[in-house]
Amino acid sequence: MNTTHPLPWWSNAVVYQLYVRSFADANGDGIGDLDGITNRLQYLADLGIDAIWLNPCYPSPQKDHGYDVADYLNIEPEYGDLAAYDRLIAEATRLNIRVLMDIVPNHCSTENDWFKRALAAGAGSELREWFYFRDGKGDDGSLPPNNWQAWFGGSAWNRTTNPDGTPGQWYLAMFTPDQPDLNWNHEPVRLAFDNILRFWWDRGAAGFRIDAPAVVGKTPGLPDAPPVPEGTLVTDIAVQNPHVYHRPEVHELFVRWRSVADAYEAEHPGRDIVLIGETFGPSLDIIASYVNERELHTTFFFTLLLNNWEAHRWRQAIQDGGNTLAKGGTSLAWTLNNHDAQRNVSRLGHSDAHLPSSFTFNNLINSHEPVDVEVGTRRARASMLIQGALPGPLFLYFGEELGLPEVLDLPEWALQDPIWERSGRTERGRDGCRVPMPWTSDASTNYGFSDGTDAPQQPWLPQPAQWSELAADQQTNDPNSMLSLYRDVLAARRAMSTQPWVDMLDLPQSPDDTDQATDNQANEDNPIVAYKRGNTTVIANLGSEPFVLPTDCGEIILASGHCPEPGILPSDTAVWLGPARQ
Ligand code: NOJ
Ligand code: CA
Repeated sequence: MNTTHPLPWWSNAVVYQLYVRSFADANGDGIGDLDGITNRLQYLADLGIDAIWLNPCYPSPQKDHGYDVADYLNIEPEYGDLAAYDRLIAEATRLNIRVLMDIVPNHCSTENDWFKRALAAGAGSELREWFYFRDGKGDDGSLPPNNWQAWFGGSAWNRTTNPDGTPGQWYLAMFTPDQPDLNWNHEPVRLAFDNILRFWWDRGAAGFRIDAPAVVGKTPGLPDAPPVPEGTLVTDIAVQNPHVYHRPEVHELFVRWRSVADAYEAEHPGRDIVLIGETFGPSLDIIASYVNERELHTTFFFTLLLNNWEAHRWRQAIQDGGNTLAKGGTSLAWTLNNHDAQRNVSRLGHSDAHLPSSFTFNNLINSHEPVDVEVGTRRARASMLIQGALPGPLFLYFGEELGLPEVLDLPEWALQDPIWERSGRTERGRDGCRVPMPWTSDASTNYGFSDGTDAPQQPWLPQPAQWSELAADQQTNDPNSMLSLYRDVLAARRAMSTQPWVDMLDLPQSPDDTDQATDNQANEDNPIVAYKRGNTTVIANLGSEPFVLPTDCGEIILASGHCPEPGILPSDTAVWLGPARQ
């Protein structure tokens, strides 16, 4: 490590993603809130994290649970107010936990004043330039301006009604009709966001996770998109539209925000801001192109989350990350779970978890194959060991440390994700990974989610009764629980070298096999993932047969599961090897 330029705090940080609605409910209305989080921060400090990322907690009609922002400079009343935010920051600061906000630049809510005043100002006004308002096609303008499809289904265009009741212009909304797209070619939009960033930094936020930045640009003239093959999932259609995906405006947005962040740091010595992009993309090169000294500090690399249970894919992801880092010094953030994907305990327990193609964002959500949660849990434990020693920020999603499975059988009446209705009730959406956290085994307090209140209301999504066994208080003193494993991994990670990258290890598949060793890395049948960081060696066995561990890598310092025979790594299990502990 270069002592004159110590690594910034986020470079190897562990960030815990809080779905605010689902973490802890302080006032008993069945909805998570900021005071609930403040009350539970000690639990997160004990887990060993460095920062939290709050999913959007601004005032919002909640049509896409906060990703439809009505006011970027306030707190959603269901979650508290600015004073509650200040209390959260104060307690987090006391515990040395930083707070990241979620910023949504591509779209706001139809309830946002920006949109309301644009509607009121009428066609041709400057205020309509904040959005994409266009006349419709056809003699009476009754056809949408182009053929673009929205991410969550249906046309991306929605027709307005004039004050006199006649049909008016159309506006663009790439997600739901409640989320009108902002026009990033319009300087007042950019200025408004500069102020929003500074507002939250002034209140103590340490940075932002940037929502859906890849779609902020649109091809001038808004030409039709190429036709989409029949049968494409609605949630796949928008990514195939070259007129909205990864256009040059994405770089422009990042350059602007980085210069605002750099200026803020210069004015506020000691502040160390991080901008991280949710940059889903067709290639790692494109994603990495956004991370440099003029743009993002770091960005998500979602491959571990999208992988099935095939070792060569995990080796490839780690290798790709390493190559990218070596080429450009790019910082990539790793993650196994988030609020848009099926939880990994279930994902990896699907009977098709070995399918030869990698999962896509959607079949994570839509696979109907049977799930063996026990198998999935073993694999999720092993995944945490594979991920845990990687350099770069690591993002955890609330409840993953309890091994919560996806709730696959939420009743239809409970489903709230707009994908459900927008897809014509063919795609259930993402509610199954957003079910409120079980803290205790007490059903009368929503399993501790609404602790501290008498007779709380039902939680906003129903919790399965079996979750009482997975509650945090049931796991905390059990050395074999998922929670203990996560604590152990994070503690060992903190103690490990800050060496910036890892060396992949090419282990023979059996002790007699040494002559083949150089082929094993590329061999798709090789079930072993192995790498070394500093003096820690990580070995995972994704196959069905036991594996003989090398004898020259030290002792087992962490194991994801029981290893009954010395020197043998069972199926679906991972270990960290290293010098014996003092
Ligand atoms: C990505 C977010 O993660 C997702 O939850 C949201 O629905 C879309 N962006 C739209 O903001
Ligand atoms: Ca509440």
